[in-house]
Amino acid sequence: MASEQKFDCYIACLGAGYVGGPTMAVIAKNCPNIKVTVVDINPVQISKWNSDHLPIYEPGLDEMVKEVRGKNLFFTTDSESAIKEAELIFVSVNTPTKMHGVGAGRAANLKNWELAARFISKVANGPKIVIEKSTLPVRTAHSMRRVLNSNDRGIKFEILSNPEFLAEGTAISDLMQPDRVLIGGESTEEGQKAVNRLKWVYQKWVPEPKIITTNLWSSELSKLVANAFLAQRISSINSISALCETTGADVDEVSRAIGMDSRIGNKFLQSSVGFGGSCFQKDILNLVYLCECFNLPEVAAYWNQVVVMNDWQKKRFSMKIVDKMFNTIAGKKIAMLGFAFKKNTGDTRETAAIYVAQQLLEERAAISIYDPKVEADQIRHDFDEYKALPANTAFDDLITIATDPYEAVKGAHAIAIMTEWDEFKNYDYERMFASMNKPAFFFDGRNIADHAKLQAIGFDVYAIGKPYDSLINMDR
Ligand code: UDX
Ligand code: UDX
Repeated sequence: MASEQKFDCYIACLGAGYVGGPTMAVIAKNCPNIKVTVVDINPVQISKWNSDHLPIYEPGLDEMVKEVRGKNLFFTTDSESAIKEAELIFVSVNTPTKMHGVGAGRAANLKNWELAARFISKVANGPKIVIEKSTLPVRTAHSMRRVLNSNDRGIKFEILSNPEFLAEGTAISDLMQPDRVLIGGESTEEGQKAVNRLKWVYQKWVPEPKIITTNLWSSELSKLVANAFLAQRISSINSISALCETTGADVDEVSRAIGMDSRIGNKFLQSSVGFGGSCFQKDILNLVYLCECFNLPEVAAYWNQVVVMNDWQKKRFSMKIVDKMFNTIAGKKIAMLGFAFKKNTGDTRETAAIYVAQQLLEERAAISIYDPKVEADQIRHDFDEYKALPANTAFDDLITIATDPYEAVKGAHAIAIMTEWDEFKNYDYERMFASMNKPAFFFDGRNIADHAKLQAIGFDVYAIGKPYDSLINMDR
């Protein structure tokens, strides 16, 4: 490899998922003199990255990958060669919540990370800088350094923490213009050399003041805390949405009023059916577990309540559907518009939609689902994975997947908006209303539709944190 050295630096990334793929594409795009090789244990994932149909949807990603793939961005299953060649190795394999043993349901499962570290240690042919991209519990770097440096060939590894703050749906712009880049490293001379090498990469496109360096533990903890604070804002406003519904206040008006206080700020105050995504719940539970381990039960309980509130909000939405539809939805068709955990992504991990669907199915409703980006296979897979079907029922008994929103809604008793896709704002709801069973209900889990217009059409409308109860005309 060294003989054909034509790049200034060689980077490898283990894990070609939502984080690894876009992050490496952006590095490759901004650093033509760096060769970036992304590897994954799953050959199907790699062949998708090498095809015209990338494994994930992100606005701007297709174009970027097409531009640099084969030039300085490569996707392969040959992790050994990639590691040997690399000076910097990012690890962005998934770290799901542990499902068994100590800390089950809360602690992060570090199996993939440890396997990756052992593999790097085994095949590396010289010193490397190993970078934690995956979100990990605080002090993981310490254990990983021990695993890495326990090789019998005397190879030294430096470990850095460089958490990712990208949000899905805006990954490319978040990576191109990040609020900040955080690099945690050790204060030793070698540690600081490694920090500076990674900083050198980001400096190719990120202004220097936005690159902050800290010790390893601050960096690891900051990632968990950033997600906990963001999620806490959503649970806070969602808790207020329930109060709005009973007092006649309007949650969007409250959000606007408080968000204009510059100390509070207006972001992440959109009340919803509940937050989803692969990170928020996992990271908070991880933080809670950490606090418990360090004997801080009050701190643990404080953050745990953010998750409790989110679960309650999802349940509250499903129960509202049952309640408004005369306490029985058995055999009634409910059209779910949206299944992704947020707009502009096909990702469904921890989506509120699956939990709401599960509760509606418990009541024996029939569900039709339409989402502009989520594949039918993914939806089937999710019902299986989340065990969301009632006992002794099959997917096709209760659920249909539509490729057209008007088809999804035909003959339904209710529409439930689950994801805030922009296209849902502009549908011909008169046409939908005409094709539905009456009374036709509209449950807006994202507060994106024009509710006055829907009411004028004839829908009975319920929206999160809105004082519409008095307007629902039960005589229709
Ligand atoms: C992951 C972590 O879940 C998250 O904690 C962290 O913040 C960023 O990395 P994401 O990229 O969204 O998030 O995960 P995912 O899309 O599941 O991708 C992980 C990839 O790693 C998968 O393609 C998987 O096949 C691969 N993998 C997993 C390996 O290559 N090796 C392994 O040992 C395990
Ligand atoms: C989040 C963090 O934002 C990101 O920095 C981190 O790297 C990974 O976790 P992500 O989960 O991709 O990113 O999306 P995000 O935009 O944060 O949304 C998470 C969930 O919160 C979604 O279900 C979204 O719909 C919901 N949400 C967000 C609200 O309900 N209300 C809001 O005001 C904002």
